[in-house]
Amino acid sequence: MAGLTDNAMRLVLLGPPGAGKGTQAEAIVGERGIPHISTGEILREAVANGTEVGLKAKSYMDAGDLVPDDVVVAIVAERLRAPDCSNGWLLDGFPRNLVQAEALGKATAEMGTPISMVLYLNIAPETAVERISGRRLCADCGAGFHVSFMPPKAEGVCDKCGGKLYQRDDDSEETVRARLATYDEQTVELIEHYRSAGLLVEIRGDENPENVAEQVLEAVRGIRC
Ligand code: AP5
Repeated sequence: MAGLTDNAMRLVLLGPPGAGKGTQAEAIVGERGIPHISTGEILREAVANGTEVGLKAKSYMDAGDLVPDDVVVAIVAERLRAPDCSNGWLLDGFPRNLVQAEALGKATAEMGTPISMVLYLNIAPETAVERISGRRLCADCGAGFHVSFMPPKAEGVCDKCGGKLYQRDDDSEETVRARLATYDEQTVELIEHYRSAGLLVEIRGDENPENVAEQVLEAVRGIRC
């Protein structure tokens, strides 16, 4: 098991819907090779497969609410114990409230694997709506695009694998606004929580993807493991 003196990098990506967490996760994973753990993706897969977790989660996700903490905390606690996490991990979309942050703090303390850094992608709410309504994802490899800001070379087709692009069920404007309200009510307080713990690095997420990636990778390269 990893200890306090190991050289693993353990990162948390924090930010509102559409902040670019998934997009920047790709850049970090490309450079660091650590596993990308997106609770949103895990839950969407569970819904698609009709598992017990998926059946519990679906109505919350459709409404733009948070899935109950016990469900999500159990998923993450198990995932962090998987062998591929021994050299670090990147959490995207977790924690999302203080209960989850405290559960993560407890789990990482028990495992001796503290968080190295929390990257907070700060964007304006109107940017979130604009980005999410234009988001398209590959049904086969999961790659993300945007119809205006990061368009695929051929409309509706993934540049990376040729798969078909689709829009997420919860990406309607109405649900995005509900997700933003949930973020304001429950997640925003994590910014101060991690700032006061000395872990937070704020990134100007409103810039173009390359500039955001530059800021993110500079911050990550500065971590002393
Ligand atoms: P989740 O999947 O985590 O969604 P989210 O946090 O709302 O974030 P998004 O995936 O929408 O956005 P993103 O920040 O990854 O942005 P992206 O890079 O794709 O959660 C979905 C649901 O699952 C939740 O509502 C909840 O119900 C449930 N859930 C998940 N985790 C949970 C938890 N811990 N507890 C309880 N419930 C949980 O970018 C967006 C678009 O913008 C893309 O099209 C992209 O191409 C484009 N883009 C990205 N960066 C830029 C840029 N710099 N400039 C221009 N365009 C850009």
